[in-house]
Amino acid sequence: MALMEHRVTPAADTGAPASAAQRFGVLARPDLSYTPQVARETAHLYERVRSHIPEFEWPVYAPYVHAINRLKKERGAVILAHNYQTPEIFHCVADIVGDSLQLAREATLVDSEIIVQCGVHFMAETSKLLNPDKTVLIPDMRAGCSLSESITGADVRLLKERYPGVPVVTYVNTSADVKAETDICCTSSNAVAVVESFDSDTVLCIPDEFLALNVAKQTDKKILTWKGHCEVHERFTAEELLAYKEADPSIEIIGHPECHPDVIAVCDYAGSTSGMINYVKDQRPSRVLLVTECSMASNIESEVEGVEFVKPCNLCPHMKRITLPKILDSLLTMSEEVTIDPMIADRARLAVERMINLKN
Ligand code: 13P
Ligand code: SF4
Repeated sequence: MALMEHRVTPAADTGAPASAAQRFGVLARPDLSYTPQVARETAHLYERVRSHIPEFEWPVYAPYVHAINRLKKERGAVILAHNYQTPEIFHCVADIVGDSLQLAREATLVDSEIIVQCGVHFMAETSKLLNPDKTVLIPDMRAGCSLSESITGADVRLLKERYPGVPVVTYVNTSADVKAETDICCTSSNAVAVVESFDSDTVLCIPDEFLALNVAKQTDKKILTWKGHCEVHERFTAEELLAYKEADPSIEIIGHPECHPDVIAVCDYAGSTSGMINYVKDQRPSRVLLVTECSMASNIESEVEGVEFVKPCNLCPHMKRITLPKILDSLLTMSEEVTIDPMIADRARLAVERMINLKN
């Protein structure tokens, strides 16, 4: 692969803060040929995705994987990837993978000055909140989330006026603007513990209606919520899952708490994306159906021999905006940089830190 030349963009004299491209410089595009060296140096990574990428397609992926891994070192960057990223990202270029809570925790521990977030925008914002002095990049700024877009900071202010004194627990799948109006954040793996951490009999748990209803079943507190839904998980129905069970009563069905409570009622286990992965690794069901985004099954399939995955394929279009070519561009051009208004960031950070520091 040809050497990459530094081409530092001169900072425009506008008085505006320098962009990441100006601070770190823009690098020239590497040669993306599938050379014998690229084949040799990526062969061990291909073994991790062999069951998902046919051998004849690897020459298309490998040059990107090779270039990203070189560039990551050159930039001193770390790649954080959510469990819903595609196998070539999850297995071949990510340094740290996990669910939302794990990624938020890891974001506080990384040494690198540059974080590339392979996930959706709220995840990159959470990393930036916890690392205000670091550069956080997201390969596609349009990677949103239907839950995050279901509510605004102004909506939360109205809820607080309507329910004065009621603690506000906000799902981490929200914008910094919403988090800034919040007492504490939660994720799917700690929502019950977060709700229970308040003395109050009533708690606002927003914006995911189904997560809130699922939490309400596990606590005596009165839960008030919002009509936000995950566009991926709301599509599953109890009827379709029961049809799978009828066809094969031995199948284990495990679901994400963003599904409707009727769906969770027919699941053998419900938990965060990492909770689901751990369940499959520990229990080794002979046949399993993951009621969640379909890249999850692909990502763990190679690690749990003997487990057969039944795959109803619901893709998250936002997660799928992140691709190898965009990650490479991000590292070359130092874009797109995640920034948060400092007035909002200081308040939003408190809500995330309270969650991370909560002992449970
Ligand atoms: P987890 O926190 O379980 O990873 O979920 C995040 C998410 O976006 C699920 O749709
Ligand atoms: Fe948002 Fe659902 Fe996509 Fe997760 S899967 S990022 S909750 S739209």
